[in-house]
Amino acid sequence: MIEVTINPGPIKLTVPAGTLLLEVLKQAGVMIATSCGGKGSCGKCKVIVSSPKFIPDTLNASEKELLSEEEIKKGFHLACQCHLNQNSTITVPPFSLIREDNSKIKDKVKSCLVNDEFKPAVSVKKYFLKINPPSLQDQRSDWTRIKDELNKQSNENNQTWKIPPAILGSIPQLLKDNDFKITIVLYKDKVITVEAGDTRREMYGVAFDIGTTTIAGYLLDLVIFKEVAVDACTNPQFKYGAEVISRIDFARKEVKNRQKMQQELIETLNQMIFSLSAKAGIDFTRIYFAVLVGNTCMHHFLWSLSVENLALSPYIPVITDSIMDDSRDLPNFCLIPYAKVYSAPNVSAYIGGDVISDLIDIVIWQRKGITLLVDLGTNGEIVLSKDGKIWACSAAAGPAFEGARISSGMRASEGAIDRIRITPDKVDYRVIGQTKASGICGSGIVDLMASLLKLQIIKPDGRLVNQEECPLGISQNIIERIIRGKRGNKFLVVSAEESATGNPIFFTQQDIREVQLAKGAVTAGIRILLEQARIKPEEIEETFLAGAFGNVLDTTSALEIGLIPAIPSKKIYSIGNAAGEGAEKLLLSEEMRNIAEHLSQKINYMELSAHHDFQRIFAESLFFNPMV
Ligand code: FES
Repeated sequence: MIEVTINPGPIKLTVPAGTLLLEVLKQAGVMIATSCGGKGSCGKCKVIVSSPKFIPDTLNASEKELLSEEEIKKGFHLACQCHLNQNSTITVPPFSLIREDNSKIKDKVKSCLVNDEFKPAVSVKKYFLKINPPSLQDQRSDWTRIKDELNKQSNENNQTWKIPPAILGSIPQLLKDNDFKITIVLYKDKVITVEAGDTRREMYGVAFDIGTTTIAGYLLDLVIFKEVAVDACTNPQFKYGAEVISRIDFARKEVKNRQKMQQELIETLNQMIFSLSAKAGIDFTRIYFAVLVGNTCMHHFLWSLSVENLALSPYIPVITDSIMDDSRDLPNFCLIPYAKVYSAPNVSAYIGGDVISDLIDIVIWQRKGITLLVDLGTNGEIVLSKDGKIWACSAAAGPAFEGARISSGMRASEGAIDRIRITPDKVDYRVIGQTKASGICGSGIVDLMASLLKLQIIKPDGRLVNQEECPLGISQNIIERIIRGKRGNKFLVVSAEESATGNPIFFTQQDIREVQLAKGAVTAGIRILLEQARIKPEEIEETFLAGAFGNVLDTTSALEIGLIPAIPSKKIYSIGNAAGEGAEKLLLSEEMRNIAEHLSQKINYMELSAHHDFQRIFAESLFFNPMV
């Protein structure tokens, strides 16, 4: 066994010699960026290893390729490639840590969820019952007494009320201890729980949007239809990779991995329920209904379903229908055992309940004309509707727009450049948290691309020009930022002196290729749906941008690189976390849940890889030209 100390902390732990450093960090609960899922190809998991006898030759091929000479001298290793064989001290630099920036979600608490378009009709109900005590003249059973009283109060004579035997068992004592005054909590005609006294004022539900990267949670008061707390946190499965494919790989290795991933997810939901309840000052046992939306993969992880076939052609999910179940069927879920848990229906392996939830939020079934919805998160989901017909596809954009696979890329958290504007004379940028820059997040990357295209420093085919090819009018300050590197040209965005890490922030030719592939996948998806629906890009009447990345994207930059169809920017709407808002509506309305089911069956799903002309359309879409 060896001893390992991790900083910042310090966290000390003992592990068997030879343990993978990434595994040690996981055991210590330290979340670091692992965009490639530990394959040694992204270079995001850099940490400093100090051992009594540090031998640089122990670096493997991936480390030699992805670490600079300077970093090697400082003792950097890739956590996913380095096995610890002696007592060591590990320093995790800030840029490798996963930091959360969920402020946009955390700041937002809506006061009222009712409006002209949306009328809640909650399926959970409470009745306060004063039961007549039994006597020799009235020997009705406890449950008969309760049913008779329920019939009176609900005006639903002869309703066939149902109650689980486990709840029945608690009733005699509850009646006795509370002077025969109890509150019955029902989901439709089924008893969820029985509570002492009058608790009608306390009735809550929780909605979760389980994203590949971030989980957002919303606590709702079901009496006054008000959002009472919101919260967000990083998906704990992030450590198995930024993309769903890396996570599927991990889950497929052993059944116990799948169970582990389910447990980690449930544990995180529990923590969020506790924190939401604490924020709102409520008792979490008064939460009777949970709605969960997410992509098909997250959905399968949550229910511990096999994800094997999601990654293998012909990409078949275990189930696409919605699931309505009791809380007790999700192992260790903290809600009371008979609270209801609903997960939204999926459409296919790569169009999940989160997209259905987006469509619920924008009331797609009532929209006239031609509507495009692009949900850009870790992947790209695209939906097109015309006069009631709906087509959808999923574009394998990969996580480049979330900063992964980009040499200086990072998530949209403190230290990330999220806006950039480059003129012929200077580079202006904005950093989240107003600190020194550590890297560039997705919205900054798209801005950077748009600016460099405009200045013709990047050509429409994605080539970063040499200094001498710069057009007239570009200042020397900008020209000198184009540097010839080992693997092609790169553009200096932030100098070493100005950056938070002491390393320069470059945008490389390889980075441009990654953005090109991501952009090409999304654009090709949109083009194929348009072709299928026989619609020209300019005929689109409104475009909704959803998802973590879609929400922060500068629409002008997105139009300039040709990511979305060229329509007037006033017809392009960033709709925030539409999946979360849709989940709230699913929580509050059975009608919405029925519509969700209907939508999931009516959407025409297009599998892009099966499209006869996909390769040609994809190749054309790699060009950074406006989409007309
Ligand atoms: S290189 Fe280590 S996680 Fe990607």
